[in-house]
Amino acid sequence: MQDLQSLETEITAKLAVATSVGDVENIRIAELGKKGRVSLLMRELGKMTPEEKNEFGPKLNQLKNTLNAAVINRKNTLEEETLNIKLQSEGVDISLSAGSGDNGSIHPITQVLDEVTEIFTEMGFSVAEGPEIEEDFYNFTALNIPEEHPARQMHDTFYFPEDDEGNRKVLRTHTSPMQIRTMLEGEPPYRIIAPGRTYRNDSDATHTPMFHQVEALVIDKNIHMGHLKWCIEEFCKKFYERDDIKIRFRPSYFPFTEPSAEVDIGCSFKDGEILIGEGDDWLEIMGCGMVNERVLENVNLDPKEYQGFAFGLGLDRAAMLKWGIPDLREFFTSDLRWLKHYGFQALDIPSLSTRNSSIKRGK
Ligand code: DAH
Repeated sequence: MQDLQSLETEITAKLAVATSVGDVENIRIAELGKKGRVSLLMRELGKMTPEEKNEFGPKLNQLKNTLNAAVINRKNTLEEETLNIKLQSEGVDISLSAGSGDNGSIHPITQVLDEVTEIFTEMGFSVAEGPEIEEDFYNFTALNIPEEHPARQMHDTFYFPEDDEGNRKVLRTHTSPMQIRTMLEGEPPYRIIAPGRTYRNDSDATHTPMFHQVEALVIDKNIHMGHLKWCIEEFCKKFYERDDIKIRFRPSYFPFTEPSAEVDIGCSFKDGEILIGEGDDWLEIMGCGMVNERVLENVNLDPKEYQGFAFGLGLDRAAMLKWGIPDLREFFTSDLRWLKHYGFQALDIPSLSTRNSSIKRGK
């Protein structure tokens, strides 16, 4: 019988130089596995006399336990070493400089939307949102534009195919349906703005099939045109960041307001450039009016008790004017060079991008 002590020393030495968990496992199988030397010795116990068994049995068991423990130990050590190496290689070196990287920018429309929302929420308006795929009822009928009404032709509408009940949904042609949705959902008074995408089948330098509007609606007791004028003037001063801005209310027609007006702001056209706040030219920026009594009746309000005003502002147009962007279509072509030129730098805290109307424009 081999000297158990030398066997232990030999196997322990092999384990000590094993460099991977796999190597350790191979040694275990070779020495302690079914056909391993330790197991063979165990088998020899059977052939021994009771006295020999008494002497060798406990020693062999002891050897087996010691070697099993040594295997586990070595495996643990190797696993720990591997983990440490991995942790070291994955560690973040916080002393390295971060490099400049590629910064994104805020799209001018998003910027304008943030600014407009900021101005109106400061005035006490809340923001309402609604579907872009709209029912005919909200987009037209309830706004006093019944079927066959000539005003339907004013909008080049994208229609969906008729459903089983003969109704055709539309891509909303304006944000005005949000007036109806708001008034049918809650109780007056209402003081909301509804920004969002709108769609018309139209495309040239000043029209894109998808564009953006902000609707505003105020309904309460004793609301009159003075409120409407003040509200729009206040907005224009804040949005264009000048107090001396010239504003003109020009009589107009919208089926959902009576009286109706279009709002122009004073500007000058010089060498193909528009300058706001100077010169003798006028530029239309929105439609507005006192909410038509018929619309109030359509949403079950008594026009003798409640009145109000509404207006609809073209956001893309507002952005073009504010920053002198000549062609509306470029807003939506996703040309990175254009976006870098006209885009805005985000503040470090993104939610604050709505808080500062003088955010610097990117180079
Ligand atoms: N919805 C109109 C349009 O898209 C704009 C408009 C005009 C909205 C007058 C209004 C309003 O709320 O009172 O042409």
